[in-house]
Amino acid sequence: MSAILPPSERLWWKQPIAKIEWFWIAIAFVWAMIMFVMMVYWHINGKQNLSNEVYKTTPEMFAAKTEKFIKENTIRTETDQQIPVVKVPAGGEGYLMARLWNWYPILELEAGKTYKIHLSAMDYQHGFSLQPVNINIQVLPGYEHVVKMTPTKAGTYAIVCNEYCGIGHHTMLGRIYVK
Ligand code: CUA
Repeated sequence: MSAILPPSERLWWKQPIAKIEWFWIAIAFVWAMIMFVMMVYWHINGKQNLSNEVYKTTPEMFAAKTEKFIKENTIRTETDQQIPVVKVPAGGEGYLMARLWNWYPILELEAGKTYKIHLSAMDYQHGFSLQPVNINIQVLPGYEHVVKMTPTKAGTYAIVCNEYCGIGHHTMLGRIYVK
């Protein structure tokens, strides 16, 4: 029998399952069960889960909070777009908005301190992807993520938008400095 011809027995599904098929069904079943248990196990014991909370908000409310935060904590501006670099108070709260097509503002953190970073989008869905540590969060308008993070290593971290958000998507880059 060939794979490109119809089976000679039309009612092939009524034929008994061969031993070798049972063998593979058993392997597939056991593997599926292992993966199922791992989902629960890894959620509890894995170290990759973000400690985040999500609240409802509106773009206007979130923009107001971000503007206030920027006004109170800006230390300088960068790039030809004059993006403010904002020092988040040690152990405090920082605000970061996603919009067409930037991450605003640039945050500055201190290694070893724990921060709560609030994230929301002003217009469409964007993808917060922090590199090279590879933390990924979907950012949606109307929802405020509060992500608890403790940077461990000083350096410049890039925020890449990883949800297609229109013609300028590929230019939507941001930055977090860790001192
Ligand atoms: Cu924002 Cu892609």
